[in-house]
Amino acid sequence: MRTGGRLFGRQRRTSDAPTSQFQELFNLNLVLPARPSVFLATRLIDVVEAQFESAFEMTKALGQDPLSEMLRSDRSFDAIVFSLDVRVGAQQIDALPSSVRALATYSVGTDHIDLERAAERGLAVFNTPGVLADSVAENAIFLMLGAARRATESLDLIRGGSWSGWSPRQLVGFQLSGRSLGILGMGDIGMRVALRAEALGMKILYSNRRKPSDSERFAAGYRATALELVRECDVLLLACPSTEETRGIVDSRLLANAKPELILVNIARGDLVEDEALISALRDGRIWAAGLDVFSGEPDVHPAYLNLPNVFMVPHIGSSTLEARVGMGRILIEALSNWAIGQPVDNRVV
Ligand code: DGY
Repeated sequence: MRTGGRLFGRQRRTSDAPTSQFQELFNLNLVLPARPSVFLATRLIDVVEAQFESAFEMTKALGQDPLSEMLRSDRSFDAIVFSLDVRVGAQQIDALPSSVRALATYSVGTDHIDLERAAERGLAVFNTPGVLADSVAENAIFLMLGAARRATESLDLIRGGSWSGWSPRQLVGFQLSGRSLGILGMGDIGMRVALRAEALGMKILYSNRRKPSDSERFAAGYRATALELVRECDVLLLACPSTEETRGIVDSRLLANAKPELILVNIARGDLVEDEALISALRDGRIWAAGLDVFSGEPDVHPAYLNLPNVFMVPHIGSSTLEARVGMGRILIEALSNWAIGQPVDNRVV
């Protein structure tokens, strides 16, 4: 169906994005015009690519192996723009031509980059913090609600045509109001989820690497470890980066300490969770449900999740809003432009 010139419903393509508000969102703050030569290894939405093209000498990847394509090119590049789909490990960094002096990832996460090797090689690395935090926080609330209100079963029932009518016994879920949310990783995104969840009437608990001072917002809800957090909360939200310390943090030991009504929500990285442990806890009813945006081994999803009615899941769409996508493009363009003329850049990781 076409409505107002745009595609809706099942015919909508994943790359379609509303563009009418685009210009006002893309309010570039460039110090001086500089036109570094940039290789775009991950394709972005059209309006953002157009902004990159107006700021830089751009070459876009055409195939499935963008870094090899770049190496074969007869042009030389100052910087590479890419995202989670392009792994830039030690091997890839070692193979880069000497002209490349900056890596700009269209993501807040940097676990697909060997930052240590990048630093050794003297590369500047930029990412996209802040601009996607509201989008990801809204997705966290969406997953919490979807899991609590049995969205997977509801959609199956109504779309499958087997709904036989309203009944007090039908699809009884939980309210979030009055329940406690435990946030593992109280960074920018965690804090934005906390503020939204508080407005829903939830009590906020959290655990973080850094212990808060008494005057900090939600400081009374601080718990020193993930284990303490899981014992007390009704919803456990994973919002921390994937590091050696956090990988596999949701394992059978942690889940054994959870309340039976626990909802686990993962908006961070799939490898924070040991899939087999979570699947067996969900299958045996040792926890209530899960809301998942991210998966280890993406885009492959452990097949058991597909058959669990208490899993509400989406394909890593946390930052998939026009506002976030445009903001992510804007701060990378600003970063590369400022870096090219030797100005300091806030979103520089290395
Ligand atoms: C990120 O930015 O790291 C998200 O996972 C994708 O936007």
